[in-house]
Amino acid sequence: MSMDYVMEPFKIKMVEMLKQTTREERIEFLKQARYNMFSIRSENIAIDMQTDSGTGAMSDRQWAAMMTADESYGGARGFYEVEAAVQDIFGYKYAQPVHQGRAAEKVLFGCLMGPDDIAIANQFFDTTQGHIVMTGARPLNCVCDEAADIYLDAPFKGNMDTEKLEALINEKGADRVKMIMMTITNNSAGGQPVSMANIRETSRIAKKYGIIFVIDAARYAENAYFIKTREEGYQDKSIGEIVKECFGYADAFSMSAKKDTIVNMGGCIGVREDEDLITKVRMRTIPLEGFINYGGLSGRDIAALAVGFYEGINESFLKYRIGQVQYLGELLHDAGVPIQYPVGGHGIYIDCGVMMPHLSWDQFPAQAVSAALYIEGGIRGGDLGSLSLDRDPDTNEQQKALNEFCRLCVPRRVLTQSQIEFVARTIIYVRDHAAEYPGYRILKETPLLRHFTVDLEPLSPIK
Ligand code: F0G
Repeated sequence: MSMDYVMEPFKIKMVEMLKQTTREERIEFLKQARYNMFSIRSENIAIDMQTDSGTGAMSDRQWAAMMTADESYGGARGFYEVEAAVQDIFGYKYAQPVHQGRAAEKVLFGCLMGPDDIAIANQFFDTTQGHIVMTGARPLNCVCDEAADIYLDAPFKGNMDTEKLEALINEKGADRVKMIMMTITNNSAGGQPVSMANIRETSRIAKKYGIIFVIDAARYAENAYFIKTREEGYQDKSIGEIVKECFGYADAFSMSAKKDTIVNMGGCIGVREDEDLITKVRMRTIPLEGFINYGGLSGRDIAALAVGFYEGINESFLKYRIGQVQYLGELLHDAGVPIQYPVGGHGIYIDCGVMMPHLSWDQFPAQAVSAALYIEGGIRGGDLGSLSLDRDPDTNEQQKALNEFCRLCVPRRVLTQSQIEFVARTIIYVRDHAAEYPGYRILKETPLLRHFTVDLEPLSPIK
């Protein structure tokens, strides 16, 4: 094993017992859920890896802060704590808490763009893309070519293709482009990081054309850790220094705090210095989220958020966090399981088209792997392949994904090393018995985001 694994930098103070289920019971639970991974009751799941969002374990300090939080409407203390943390960590003058990442998108994008405008990112996350479309603007992705080669060993596969970005701005007209966004890490490309050099160059282009540069900061601390360990010149910098430099290149951020800021619910908008922009943000926050001092959260949530900002950038935490995901990646890679490699920051992506060679793409191999992992190990991952793509709105044809990925996210501070090893063993077992698992067909679907509610059926009985 090539990586330097570190032990958990915490001890466990409170536990949640897992219900024990048998293989036969899990086959039945899956059937009751109409083979939709979202519909399985979570009490029947042993290791839930559907997302790393809002699923982290809060610390004793976060819980303590919740107990002493201020639930006032105006002037609530938590707001000032969040504002101070944002000023201290990011060097931004203004902070606006909101209830989660998509709320930050809804509030911020309405200040920046409207019909016929364009927004460009390395890659937009689905809700981010959705909120751009809802303003009437068009989202365009501009990720580097390395992102598409899932086995290519490159350090920063989440980068923006900056040449393509500049060409796009010139083609579309700079005055139509109302935002350039950098998603760090790049979730849609497997949680792959973005380099400081790439953020700097993107910022230069944004300034040259007078376009606002916004960071989607959901996994900014993981990205900073990758910069520290992979980019020349950053080894001796602290995570705090890297975060400050990185955000210094941008004008604003929109953040889901449910990831790197380790809260179960929360989000934030940060504005570096533009007073007009924060005024607009606050004006929209009041009707959409709630008064600016609570932004759609309880005082308890905000108190936990203020503490989480600091815990998320703690270097020994990040070393363990990224190390745990890499440890899982190395176990699978050494066993020859086809995964995106090197692994990103928050989970592993199994290349199920390769793992299930007996299934064609329209038999949903990533759904087949997700179902098999649940049956064999009570593990929940999710299809990020063709099942999660809606039909072409014009032709009604089933669309084919670039990769049939099953995504298994690692929640923060939740799983022990032996649970990670159990996950690896279960995946390897499913790979070794791949031919025994059936593909799936759709029984019922909606035209939009169908994978959340789809009813499915296996093509042959599960053995
Ligand atoms: N931006 C990124 C990069 C995200 O990964 C997410 C959420 C959001 C914005 C939206 O934030 O959920 O707080 O409203 N990603 C989750 C995931 C849902 O599973 O990857 P939210």
